[in-house]
Amino acid sequence: MSKRALITGITGQDGSYLAELLLSQGYQVWGLVRGQANPRRSRISRLMSDLYFVDGDLMDQGSLVAAVDRVQPDEVYNLGAISFVPMSWQQPELVTEVNGMGVLRVLEAIRIVSGLNGSRNGGSQIRFYQASSSEMFGMVTESPQCEKTIFHPRSPYGVAKAYGHFITRNYRESFGMYAVSGILFNHESPRRGAEFVTRKISRAVANIKLGYQDKLALGNLDAVRDWGFAGDYVRAMHLMLQQDGPTDYVVGTGRMNSVRDAARIAFEHVDLDWRDHVVVDPDLVRPAEVETLCADARRAEAELGWTPTVDFAGLMRMMVDADIRQVSREREYEDLQVAVGW
Ligand code: NAP
Ligand code: GDD
Repeated sequence: MSKRALITGITGQDGSYLAELLLSQGYQVWGLVRGQANPRRSRISRLMSDLYFVDGDLMDQGSLVAAVDRVQPDEVYNLGAISFVPMSWQQPELVTEVNGMGVLRVLEAIRIVSGLNGSRNGGSQIRFYQASSSEMFGMVTESPQCEKTIFHPRSPYGVAKAYGHFITRNYRESFGMYAVSGILFNHESPRRGAEFVTRKISRAVANIKLGYQDKLALGNLDAVRDWGFAGDYVRAMHLMLQQDGPTDYVVGTGRMNSVRDAARIAFEHVDLDWRDHVVVDPDLVRPAEVETLCADARRAEAELGWTPTVDFAGLMRMMVDADIRQVSREREYEDLQVAVGW
């Protein structure tokens, strides 16, 4: 019988790639979706007929218990979150509820459906993956960062993720659950949300190249990240749930690039000079910045056999090419609307 996976956050970037990967491996894939007629299913529209859906929200414990009970999954991937860091200063309580308490609620749902309690901690058949983040390292105490590096989160987002990380470890230790966290560094793709810096750049480059935009406003150009391709990172998530025992892993490329590098590579790809178009907007600088991140992913390589396949320049070029196609299609559609008088 095929394995069943339940993915929270299936409509997001990572959820869409993970769903594709699991379907290709013969899984029955269920997505937890929220809201009436959830409008953000475009990333998975091609997969709709192969997927199963169950309603639920990380803010609602009862809905999660019902979802786990209905799906009876072998594996649960908790990718759902408010993932844009600046939003966590605007709505810190909401972000803490979803990204922190939401993890506890999924773990509780698994515990309740598995019939585990304090005196009976024989584990659960359900394996659990938590989407932890390099944002937890924040103001880094060493470089590169590995599984043992101390956390110093710099945003309410990072603090909530640290709670999710530790409560996952606590349920592993308390109830014998196979519950692991992947501490993933930044990963991008043509499906990345438009608010994140790589996609903001690739989309602006496409618009500028096609003559629809002239300037691109960015914040801190000196910020350094370890950026990889999302399609590679979901392989690591899956591998983490296939091991003999549960362990947390850092996943990243071990390469550092700045926001300035990202802009330079993207503009160069279409024969433009980034300095002619990028302007700095101080309003985009964060109240507390994570200046630099770089992964030491040797454990993932040694134990999972995981390595990335796309380098940073290749990633930026892939995103620019995809956005040129998308912007062209969107503009053609708008022109058609004008032509027919919609
Ligand atoms: P994303 O594209 O922003 O997707 C977030 C997903 O979370 C969406 O499907 C969204 O559903 C769902 N969600 C939001 N609030 C929810 C709620 N209250 N209940 C249930 N679902 C909810 O994020 P991503 O880039 O795929 O990242 C996936 C996970 O990895 C996140 O937890 C993120 O924090 C973490 N992470 C990401 C990176 C990265 O570089 N991408 C790195 C480290 C960790 P709707 O469509 O309904 O809004
Ligand atoms: N978004 C954005 N927009 N970021 C900018 C801009 C801008 O105009 N200008 C400079 N930056 C800088 C930010 O200050 C940050 O240092 C860096 O670019 C990356 O920002 P994001 O792309 O928004 O990603 P992030 O690093 O804050 O968070 C992402 O990665 C985390 C893992 O480290 C998200 O995917 C998080 O959900 C994830 O946990």
